[in-house]
Amino acid sequence: MKARHGDCFTVGLLRNRRVVVLAGQAANRYVLLDSDGNFSSRLGWEVALDVLGGFVLLRDFEDHALHRTLLRPFFAADALRRDLVCINGLIRDEVTALGGAADAYRLAKRLALDIALAVFGGFEPGRNVEAIYSDTVRVLDGVMTRRSRWPGSRYRRALQARDRLRAALLAELPRRRDGDASDLFSRLSRLADESGRALRDQDVVDHVFGMVFAAHETTASAMALVMYSLARHTEWQAEVRAEIVARRPGEAPTLDELSEMPVFEAVFRETLRLYAPIQLLPRRNVRPFDWSGHRIPANSHILLPPQVCHRDAQAFENPDSFQPGRFLEGSVRTVDPFTWIPFGRGRHMCMGTHFALVEAKAFFVALLRSFDLELATTNAPAIEHLPVLRPSGSLPIVFARRPAR
Ligand code: HEM
Repeated sequence: MKARHGDCFTVGLLRNRRVVVLAGQAANRYVLLDSDGNFSSRLGWEVALDVLGGFVLLRDFEDHALHRTLLRPFFAADALRRDLVCINGLIRDEVTALGGAADAYRLAKRLALDIALAVFGGFEPGRNVEAIYSDTVRVLDGVMTRRSRWPGSRYRRALQARDRLRAALLAELPRRRDGDASDLFSRLSRLADESGRALRDQDVVDHVFGMVFAAHETTASAMALVMYSLARHTEWQAEVRAEIVARRPGEAPTLDELSEMPVFEAVFRETLRLYAPIQLLPRRNVRPFDWSGHRIPANSHILLPPQVCHRDAQAFENPDSFQPGRFLEGSVRTVDPFTWIPFGRGRHMCMGTHFALVEAKAFFVALLRSFDLELATTNAPAIEHLPVLRPSGSLPIVFARRPAR
């Protein structure tokens, strides 16, 4: 479409709405920085993510800035250092149980959800988490479906699952408020400003629920596709393993031990370039604006597709091939920041960028120390692109145990 129509065109999408696609680095910069306060994330996202209520991504302008500031400390280095203890434990349990052929996506999804539920919700993996697990899967299942509330419809099932999850969190809230646990849920429920005013219960629940949602599906997709990329490109698998061996991280690596892993970071970035988990960033404009000679009326549905820049031959040589070296030689800092946007940019840039990278590093350190990753089939994985890019069906990988050193 871009080749035919340039960097501004319309498509029929989102249940037959006319949608304006702005496809290019300049548009990414203009819309995501949003220096005029014209692009609403709430109105953009709520078409698909109405189930997420008052989560920070579905807030705008001053209200968004306020909630983002409240949440920022949970992503600071000291918080991440504490979270890593919990993350390492869950990774160890998952990796110890591995061996032979397994579905890499299922593994990554289970692990990422367990981590998100533990770190953000304070829920230990176990029997009561099964219900939460299946309900979050049901909610995601309803994201792109028709908004039909007929009994048995996927959307209705998603709403019911969402309501059960919210009710469970609300019921848990008083216990969290009285306790001293350090997960996001417990700490948000105790948060008060200088005048002692606490966050509304509904805001606490919306942020916890939204965070679990934002954190697990995207990270699962990324970790599964890094496993696939390393199994397919064994020379890069060897490079990453050599980097891990050289750094000698402990059984439960610390934040310092996980810093400075340029080869793994390049593999991670290249995988996200090819397979950005979020394929469309939606907004709606409060006021009309002009772009590429077109007048875009107020309240239009706008979509930014990261993939158009990620696969642009002018920005990345051989854009369809897996070449992590492009992020090593010049480093990502030499790539225009609005050309590589798997985590978005600007006002709503992903708050979990560093968290996701640390989680992935800790996982691959444990995994590659014990296992060689091999392709179970030579077929390229079938991919579904919405609501989150992920392997369609299973992603079989052979986890071949390495001899103990
Ligand atoms: C590889 C993993 C991840 C990817 C690719 C990803 C991608 C994104 C993208 C593209 C956005 C911006 C959406 C927009 O501008 O419309 C976003 C926002 C967000 N992400 Fe992530 N994400 C990942 C992991 C995480 C994790 C692990 C967390 C939590 C720890 C997280 C929390 C958030 C939050 C809170 C926002 C909303 C920020 C705001 O509205 O101010 N994400 N993410």
